[in-house]
Amino acid sequence: MGEGYILAIETSCDETAVAVATLDGEILVSKVASQVALHAPHGGVVPELASRNHSVDLPPLVNITLEKAGVTWDQLRIVSATSGPGLASSLLVGDTTAKSVSVALNCPFYSINHMEGHLLSPFIGLKQSIPEHVALVVSGGHTMLVHVVRVNDYEMMGSTKDDAAGEAFDKVGKMLGLTYPAGPEIARLAKGGSREAFQFPRSMIDRDGHEFSFSGMKTSVLYQLKNLENPLGARQLSDLCASFEEAIVDVLVSKLFNAAEERGVSAIAISGGVSCNERLRTRVEAEAARKEMRAFLPATQYTTDNAAMIAFAAAMRAREGVAPSELDLDIDPNLSIEGPVTRLTEG
Ligand code: KG4
Ligand code: ZN
Repeated sequence: MGEGYILAIETSCDETAVAVATLDGEILVSKVASQVALHAPHGGVVPELASRNHSVDLPPLVNITLEKAGVTWDQLRIVSATSGPGLASSLLVGDTTAKSVSVALNCPFYSINHMEGHLLSPFIGLKQSIPEHVALVVSGGHTMLVHVVRVNDYEMMGSTKDDAAGEAFDKVGKMLGLTYPAGPEIARLAKGGSREAFQFPRSMIDRDGHEFSFSGMKTSVLYQLKNLENPLGARQLSDLCASFEEAIVDVLVSKLFNAAEERGVSAIAISGGVSCNERLRTRVEAEAARKEMRAFLPATQYTTDNAAMIAFAAAMRAREGVAPSELDLDIDPNLSIEGPVTRLTEG
């Protein structure tokens, strides 16, 4: 690829993120201004607070990121931003900023699906093409199995019928009096706990389909808590976290490998906020080794929301000859991973 750089912006939820990458997708700088502390007292993300803070944090973060990368405006060749799925008012801040930069610099704009960013994140920094594989994307808002045929050719195999995996961690954390987002804290408490102390249902684990359901597991935690002392002792808390984590991981691992087998692929990948869970990573790697499959896991800094994965997705799209996005393309809070299909450049 030629000289020049990519500027990427991600503001789909509560993280303001900017990254600068080479046209080959090598990440120079990836910065995230987290709003977690701002939303924590509310027990979840407040859309109005998120968008207003994006508009305050984003312009200086763009300047800081470019400066740190040692890249000047006139060296940018591609500008990209997340256009969905996510919160409409948050998406608009990043999308409009990126389009404005693209107009001012007269360079192509790539509108990127946030889930495509997560999907391709395990391949950041690997100097190899992206193989056909089945991917599990697990975050606070999504749990899905995707058959990745190649860049820009994705088959949605299944998703959750109720809560996302990260959401289940967060809701159970709330029941236990932990702060939001509770995933990392549950994982920490689970260390040293017994994975068999509590029994939780593994909903839909043996079904042929690729759908997930975590609400039964959540309800089971609620009922079992009613029969225990409040607050739980340290040992019980640790056991409950370990047993709950194991139930979620069992379902995720089983469904991922069933889906991979069904599509006949020899590689799998995981991504999204929950993919930094150590137990999940260990189990996925062990199962892949047992089945002699290649496993692709993202570096932990690219598991939660970031703009490096958006820059990387834009680089992969450009490399594959996918046409840039029109500037009048709208954001889409419900954007699907299967569309809209971006047309390929001719010739
Ligand atoms: O991808 P992400 O940053 O945001 C969304 O797009 O949703 O994912 C955040 C989610 C939260 O639900 C959080 O509790 C969960 O990822 N999470 C974890 C861990 N770290 C973050 N869940 C389980 N174990 C972890 N270590
Ligand atoms: Zn995400």
